[in-house]
Amino acid sequence: MRTALVTGAAGFIGFHLSRLLLAEGWRVVGVDNHNDYYDPALKAAREALLLADPNYRAIRGAVEEPGLLMGIFAEERPEAVVHLAAQAGVRYSIENPRAYVQANLLGTFELLEAARAHPPRHMLLASTSSVYGANTEMPYRETDRADSQMSFYAATKKSNEAMAHSYAHLFALPVTMFRFFTVYGPWGRPDMAPYLFTSAIFDGRPIKVFNHGGMRRDFTFVSDLVRAIRLLVDAVPGTERAGEFDSLSPVAPFRVVNIGNGAPVPLLDFIAAIESAAGRKAQRQMLPMQPGDVPATWADTTLLRALSGYAPQTAVDEGVAAYVAWFRDYYGVGA
Ligand SMILES: NC(=O)c1ccc[n+]([C@@H]2O[C@H](COP(=O)([O-])OP(=O)(O)OC[C@H]3O[C@@H](n4cnc5c(N)ncnc54)[C@H](O)[C@@H]3O)[C@@H](O)[C@H]2O)c1
Repeated sequence: MRTALVTGAAGFIGFHLSRLLLAEGWRVVGVDNHNDYYDPALKAAREALLLADPNYRAIRGAVEEPGLLMGIFAEERPEAVVHLAAQAGVRYSIENPRAYVQANLLGTFELLEAARAHPPRHMLLASTSSVYGANTEMPYRETDRADSQMSFYAATKKSNEAMAHSYAHLFALPVTMFRFFTVYGPWGRPDMAPYLFTSAIFDGRPIKVFNHGGMRRDFTFVSDLVRAIRLLVDAVPGTERAGEFDSLSPVAPFRVVNIGNGAPVPLLDFIAAIESAAGRKAQRQMLPMQPGDVPATWADTTLLRALSGYAPQTAVDEGVAAYVAWFRDYYGVGA
């Protein structure tokens, strides 16, 4: 039986990925500290579904706790490690940057040390499209320079990429870094726009539309995203280049890969899709751009396709309908 260690397994993406791996017959060891950055009841509900599978093991703890990951690596010897535990969110990183140092910098350091002692076949770590920061050339390519982060969140993720590269080089550890583009879908995070919009629409509250609606996001449906992750687990970086577009390091088994739909959607179209699925109109409160944010994101998915033969493509109408159906069911509203 193949064993995967998934950090942040009670989180939005970790939950979906763990479910997919379990359905394929993997043993999954999930680590999560169930912190209260958003409602821990949602994390507990996701974990309860995972625990229904006897091949799931849940470990409650913080990744930055010295020795925790080391002990788990030693005991479980996971073949694949997917590191999703992090303090996420652009806006919260202005308010509480220390949380990002703890979870993202120290947590990733402990993970790398554990992998150095007990090397898995492949380590896959979450980074973000936010690392492209001030880049304006679209779509974003992995080989583009990405040196101008606009938020401390993005800065910690860019640091994670550099930290992981050095371990990949020094200890011959195969590492893939994902740059995710705005992920949405059932069981989604309550701090993100799809939840904020949908809950306001059902409550009859106005929604806040930043940059006066002039935002575009490469929205990625979560089922597509975890399918891409799953396929990349078996695309272990070696020395072979997938093409001139490959971000493979010249000195280490390390690459970064965008996971996005490859099609930016205007925020106003995303809102219209929620209105249509909810059968209600939103009251729009138009506001300026928020600090740390970028007006648009757009993934080039050439490398993802070359490595996995796949790229996300769920259309926003379809994905949003699935999200709103889950929202009604989980929160018992809008029937
Ligand atoms: N959702 C997106 O649109 C998106 C976009 C880009 C990057 N990402 C990255 O993907 C990863 C997963 O994101 P998500 O949307 O599932 O977020 P999430 O917050 O739902 O999941 C993260 C999980 O990690 C846990 N966690 C946080 N700090 C921890 C710590 N110190 N120790 C142990 N567990 C901890 C949380 O309790 C949570 O369950 C994160 O690394 C995030 O930065 C997400």
